[in-house]
Amino acid sequence: MILASSLMFIQCTSDPIEGPQGIAGVDGYEGVDGVNGADGASGTASCVACHSESHRTPIEESYAKSVHAAGATVASTTFIPGVSTSSRASCARCHNSEGYINYITGKPAVDIVNPSKISCTTCHSKHGTFDFENDGHDYALRNMAPVKLDITEPTYVIDYGNSSNNCASCHQGRSKAPVDNGTGLYLQANSRFYPHYSGQAQMLEGIQGAVIANGSTPMPVVGTAAHRTGASCVSCHMTATTNGTTGLHTFKVSTSACTSCHTTVPTEVAGLAADMATLKAKLLALNLIAADGTPIVQTTTIPFKHAQALWNYKTVEEDHSYGIHNPKYAKALVKNAIEAVQ
Ligand code: HEC
Ligand code: HEC
Ligand code: HEC
Ligand code: HEC
Ligand code: HEC
Ligand code: HEC
Repeated sequence: MILASSLMFIQCTSDPIEGPQGIAGVDGYEGVDGVNGADGASGTASCVACHSESHRTPIEESYAKSVHAAGATVASTTFIPGVSTSSRASCARCHNSEGYINYITGKPAVDIVNPSKISCTTCHSKHGTFDFENDGHDYALRNMAPVKLDITEPTYVIDYGNSSNNCASCHQGRSKAPVDNGTGLYLQANSRFYPHYSGQAQMLEGIQGAVIANGSTPMPVVGTAAHRTGASCVSCHMTATTNGTTGLHTFKVSTSACTSCHTTVPTEVAGLAADMATLKAKLLALNLIAADGTPIVQTTTIPFKHAQALWNYKTVEEDHSYGIHNPKYAKALVKNAIEAVQ
């Protein structure tokens, strides 16, 4: 605090409009005047660029339109009867403000009695540096560090090298693809047989789907998708806004984020919707999912490949981007799944 405030004082003393004139040069040997000093730079301009009402207003307005601000799951008791979805220690880490702050500051996970929605201070706190020029900007985020995924083993670390690491600290899957026990059979007894709705980081990376043996569509190399290497969560979901309803802190995708690569922005992954429908029909016929897509708890074993096909269907569905996060990977998961159930 002392260090930070001493910096602020230094900067406050320089005149934001025009620096003082330099001290007149001492007369030289030959009697020539010295060069006038340059005007002082405005010390607070870099702070005011963000810390002004005019800059905050559009951010606050856009945030109010976001799903984070709506926080439907925070107080909802639909999913865990009698208890708010986000209260539980295991859910609070991503679903409410107190839980996330506990998690990101290394405190133990505890039940949160009166959970708050995700808000400015959930993601932001204080700057780790004021030397933005040399250290890069940290946007006063609580987390911009690489993210060690909760459930992948061996340890898998995702580093976008930018503020998207903040997103990956919550938008990551919660369970793993099924593992073959050597019999080629699998007892699928879990109605939540999917990575949770939050597998976006893994989808972009191209991991966590089930790799089906001898699938004829090759699996793309992990981490090579163009949307992973040339774009990021933030560059697609937090761009400048054209109409106030997308981009910025709405976290809603704006097509202005796509035009650096696509001259005509594709609205869907070619053929994926049809393949998903084909796969769903097969899974319904095999009695592996209900009409609403919920995995059906089995009492006897099923072929392991069928379990993998079901996993892939749910993985692509619950990423919620219709395959756009990683088109080639999503296509490969679904194509090989269709083969497996045919
Ligand atoms: C790129 C935007 C940006 C710039 C530039 C910036 N900040 Fe911040 N700063 C933030 C954000 C975002 C927060 C999080 C808190 C909030 O919501 O205001 C924050 C928080 C802070 C806080 C702690 C929270 C508070 O309000 O007490 C201080 C102090 C602060 N900034 C000082 C500075 C100073 C001094 C500078 C210039 C050297 C600066 N900031 C430049 C974005 C910025
Ligand atoms: C690793 C972070 C994380 C954890 C832990 C987590 N969730 Fe989530 N959950 C998310 C994210 C992120 C979303 C939003 C994804 C989206 O809408 O695309 C979400 C969405 C949901 C939804 C909304 C699904 C829908 O229909 O849109 C429910 C319900 C939910 N979670 C329940 C839970 C419960 C219950 C727990 C604890 C048992 C839990 N979550 C633990 C990250 C997490
Ligand atoms: C879910 C996490 C999250 C929440 C909640 C959030 N922010 Fe941010 N904010 C970010 C990220 C990530 C960035 C960096 C974006 C980038 O790299 O361009 C950012 C950037 C900023 C910046 C600097 C960039 C700019 O556009 O000037 C300001 C200021 C800011 N946020 C203010 C706020 C305020 C005010 C709120 C509450 C109304 C808020 N944020 C809520 C994640 C969040
Ligand atoms: C503290 C954990 C957390 C962080 C950090 C976070 N999110 Fe979320 N996000 C959630 C949760 C939880 C939901 C679902 C909210 C609900 O329904 O209650 C969600 C919802 C969303 C949605 C809307 C999904 C839908 O169903 O419409 C988008 C888009 C999104 N987040 C993008 C991002 C991006 C981009 C970042 C990084 C800048 C980010 N989030 C950072 C937890 C987080
Ligand atoms: C190439 C651009 C791009 C990148 C990179 C990207 N997204 Fe998306 N994302 C999209 C598009 C397009 C959609 C689907 C359209 C929509 O519903 O907004 C989407 C959908 C989503 C959704 C579901 C929204 C909903 O309405 O249900 C969430 C949550 C989300 N993305 C989070 C993330 C996170 C977290 C990251 C980084 C790990 C990320 N995205 C990276 C473009 C991108
Ligand atoms: C960094 C460059 C880049 C950006 C930015 C980018 N894309 Fe892409 N996109 C690609 C490339 C390259 C492909 C080809 C497939 C691949 O490599 O995964 C692609 C493929 C796609 C596909 C699949 C097309 C098909 O027919 O299968 C869709 C849909 C898509 N992008 C939508 C978007 C959207 C929407 C955005 C903006 C939110 C976006 N892209 C931003 C480079 C980009």
